[in-house]
Amino acid sequence: MATLRLGDIAPNFTAETSEGRIDFYEYLGNAWGIFFSHPADFTPVCTTELGATAKLAAEFAARNVKVIALSVDPVGRHHLWIDDINETQQTVVNFPIIADADRKVSELYDLIHPNASETATVRSVFVIGPDKKIKLTLTYPASTGRNFYELLRVIDSLQLTAHYQVATPANWQQGDDVVILPAVKDVDIPAKFPKGFRVIKPYLRITPQPNL
Ligand code: BEZ
Repeated sequence: MATLRLGDIAPNFTAETSEGRIDFYEYLGNAWGIFFSHPADFTPVCTTELGATAKLAAEFAARNVKVIALSVDPVGRHHLWIDDINETQQTVVNFPIIADADRKVSELYDLIHPNASETATVRSVFVIGPDKKIKLTLTYPASTGRNFYELLRVIDSLQLTAHYQVATPANWQQGDDVVILPAVKDVDIPAKFPKGFRVIKPYLRITPQPNL
């Protein structure tokens, strides 16, 4: 499989998971998706990542996001590992972990980078829209745990910019001002952005977050 890029359709698959056999598209339904991969079960950074994700369940639900993880270990090991995660991270893992022992899904999503490791999957994330298109990809090294607040921030941006002709600037957080897309003509701004706007440069026009 070639590398998946932004705007590509996230390929569907069926797989064994810690919550039984799933069809990926059926699991996602009309929700947004976060699909993230892990080097292996019973590894320290992954343990903290899965615990951190479980603790954010209410935040993902509020954004209509379904989460699914992947590791190349078999489902029996996933169950034992989940017990450890629940115990050590003081949470309850509340999303499926794909048991990709035959590497089928890993190959489909290009999750084994042989120059990093011949056998372990990299630490990748795909954010998938309700249209099943890939909206974000990122890949971290095995040694660096991901920032799950950043994933929530990106989803907030994606959901906002899907409905308004705006983009979110550097380090944007919910409630901050946003930028008006260059495609919007000055003459159309007052009607589209009734909260007001500032023109800093002709290409840099700022408005309060429109959906608050
Ligand atoms: C970890 O998840 O802790 C990990 C996995 C592979 C290499 C280094 C750390």
